[in-house]
Amino acid sequence: MMDKNIDRRAFLKDSALALGALSLGGLNAVSCAQSKKAAQTVKVPDTLRFKPDGKFKIVQFTDIHASEDPEQNKHSYDIMNNLLDLEKPDLVMYTGDFGAGDNIYDRLVGFASSRGIPCAVAFGNHEPEDEQEREAVLNYFADLPGCLNVRKDEETSQLPGATNQVIPIYSAADAAKKSAILYLFDSLTDHHLPGYDRSNDWIKPVQVEWYKRHSQALTAGNGGTPLPSLAFFHIPLPEWGETWKNPQYKNMGWRIEPEGCPPVNSGLFQAFVECGDVKGAFCGHDHDNDYVVFRDGIALGYGRYSGGLAAYHTLCRGCRVIELTEGSAVFDTWTRMETSRMLYHITVPYSFTSDDPKYKPKP
Ligand SMILES: [Fe+2]
Repeated sequence: MMDKNIDRRAFLKDSALALGALSLGGLNAVSCAQSKKAAQTVKVPDTLRFKPDGKFKIVQFTDIHASEDPEQNKHSYDIMNNLLDLEKPDLVMYTGDFGAGDNIYDRLVGFASSRGIPCAVAFGNHEPEDEQEREAVLNYFADLPGCLNVRKDEETSQLPGATNQVIPIYSAADAAKKSAILYLFDSLTDHHLPGYDRSNDWIKPVQVEWYKRHSQALTAGNGGTPLPSLAFFHIPLPEWGETWKNPQYKNMGWRIEPEGCPPVNSGLFQAFVECGDVKGAFCGHDHDNDYVVFRDGIALGYGRYSGGLAAYHTLCRGCRVIELTEGSAVFDTWTRMETSRMLYHITVPYSFTSDDPKYKPKP
């Protein structure tokens, strides 16, 4: 915490001011995004599907924190472009804290869509706290070509936040068959409880119930077998920190700062365990952590800070990559650094549960 570029509290305040200005701009820019949708030139799939080889690769970028000063952002953009060319994913997942200015929403979607790759976003605590502004930003993303987020519907309008969404990945052999599921949650912004150093909000019980309803329906529709699933959100659940600190569990990767977990456990992890479908959950938020821990059959992981110079970070920048295999709950994940080096390539769950040398983290 001592060697961060800027103090977290000052950063929160500055970002909130800047985001306020940007999100108001977003409200006015919705029609602009709609016209861009019509102007889409590169074909981007509007549904996700396993490739013929049975693989599906996701690149997770997190905490971009774009500044109004392009000089602070450009290396981040170069890194993201280079990593997309290297990994060639089937989906780009942005897990929040996009920042303000420099046309960042369009840029993020454009990095993916210009390569014919769809993307999706899960909001961070630095997206606008005001519900109307937050929804306006969602609508802006939803109208951008290549972004899979959709506007709120009758059901999701009942949930707090904006980016609560279920995204299926369809079978390579059958375009109508759901083979895996991605759950996106809006982990909200700040709580206002007195006496806490950090104000990380929590995913609310109504969102947990929303997840359970969808999970149970999908399992029922799959003959009673849960579909292999991943979850993405910004703020880590309390189980991240608890699991890292418990020597009973293996961990892999870097932990340089304490987890910014919420003070309330609303039971999402327990719901994942009970529903039996989510095999990996990935967050952002803590720029100096990139670890994965494994508990009760679920990998709990961080992305790798992908942002610019405007926000604190000690780790060099990069992304997390997750590769699914159709018909299997086993998946691979690794971090890819800005230097192009791959780090901590693991196979979930075997890198945590097996002593076989072939499952040791690589390199
Ligand atoms: Fe952040």
